[in-house]
Amino acid sequence: MEVRRVLHMNEGEGEASYASNSSLQRAVITMVKPILEETILDLVRDEAFLESEVLRIADLGCSSSPNSLSVISHIVNTITTACDRQHRQPLELQVVLNDLPRNDFNTIFKTLPSFYDELNRGNSNHGSCFITAMPGSFYERLFPRKSIHFIHSSYSLHYLSQVPKGLISKEGTPLNKGNTYIARTTSLAVSRAYHEQFKHDFSSFLCSRSEEVIGGGRAVLTLTGRRTDDPSCDENCVPWKMITLALKDMAQEGHIEEAQIDSFDFPYYAPSAAEVQDIILQQGSFNLTRLEGLEIGWDSKTTGNVNLTSFDNLRRARYVSKYVRAISESMLSSHFGAPVMDALFQRHIERVAELYNKEEPKFYSLVITLIKK
Ligand SMILES: C[S@@+](CC[C@H](N)C(=O)[O-])C[C@H]1O[C@@H](n2cnc3c(N)ncnc32)[C@H](O)[C@@H]1O
Repeated sequence: MEVRRVLHMNEGEGEASYASNSSLQRAVITMVKPILEETILDLVRDEAFLESEVLRIADLGCSSSPNSLSVISHIVNTITTACDRQHRQPLELQVVLNDLPRNDFNTIFKTLPSFYDELNRGNSNHGSCFITAMPGSFYERLFPRKSIHFIHSSYSLHYLSQVPKGLISKEGTPLNKGNTYIARTTSLAVSRAYHEQFKHDFSSFLCSRSEEVIGGGRAVLTLTGRRTDDPSCDENCVPWKMITLALKDMAQEGHIEEAQIDSFDFPYYAPSAAEVQDIILQQGSFNLTRLEGLEIGWDSKTTGNVNLTSFDNLRRARYVSKYVRAISESMLSSHFGAPVMDALFQRHIERVAELYNKEEPKFYSLVITLIKK
């Protein structure tokens, strides 16, 4: 799979779209808002930027849902309030939305008129906000040197730039047979290949941003992660485990070949806090100011659910399966074919409901804040 040509969240605003199935990611953004606000306030108060009239902000991995503009709106309001308090002219903002070229930017652009209306209704005293887009991979350079003050990225940096090359032997044999991610039965060599790919990618991300972000500029990055040292722990691999079980059901029923599963791997890695910290230290361009973990239920609830029946669990499984489909269908259908997707996700619902009858699955995420040296 060539990730940059294949990967995109489901387009448009229909029932299967990412726009209609991204409330989990929205809930994560809401949990991170206090950190975002604090970081933006620090930036606006920073002496280095007191003379600035324009702030340049980038949202990396913006996708096509309302989530990105909700982050921008929160940033604009925070800056407006800060400028009011400092009796300072409202700052003008240039906002760049970035994602891979296959992303459906138009779905966001269509909502821009109402976004600007809403912004003006909320507070007429904010500076102008100019929104543009930059298609491309955030593992490469996206902006001119020293042009960006603030970087935001949520639930995007766990996607690798490619499926690690070490997952196929020299003879072309798949080495992660029967798995599509780092599973309990995955070999150490495959697990290491995933880790090396993440190190390479996250380091390239920091290198590119180090050219683009102005000294003193900030970043707030949220990505899925894990608490333990063991990358094959269930935490955060379980979503792919449910897909893999559904794929195996499909193979058993003759809809797809076992060999197709052997040769498919997700370009995904959930790092530990220590791994992320090491890469930031080694790359050396940013000071790490915060590294926190947060937890959220698969059904977007931040607290535990009690006394749920198997009927509730089926309903929750349908909800989970819709957002898993919205984020993974492009990768799965390019490998297994679009015609089998409905049947695959029907089995996925059943597998997730079974899991819910046994446990309360959660995502663990890492929130990182950085200052450019
Ligand atoms: C799950 S979505 C998150 C979207 C949004 N930030 C949110 O929180 O709702 C992840 C996005 O990251 C994008 N992405 C993945 N790898 C990328 C890369 N190398 N460069 C730019 N965007 C990337 C995907 O295309 C996808 O739109």
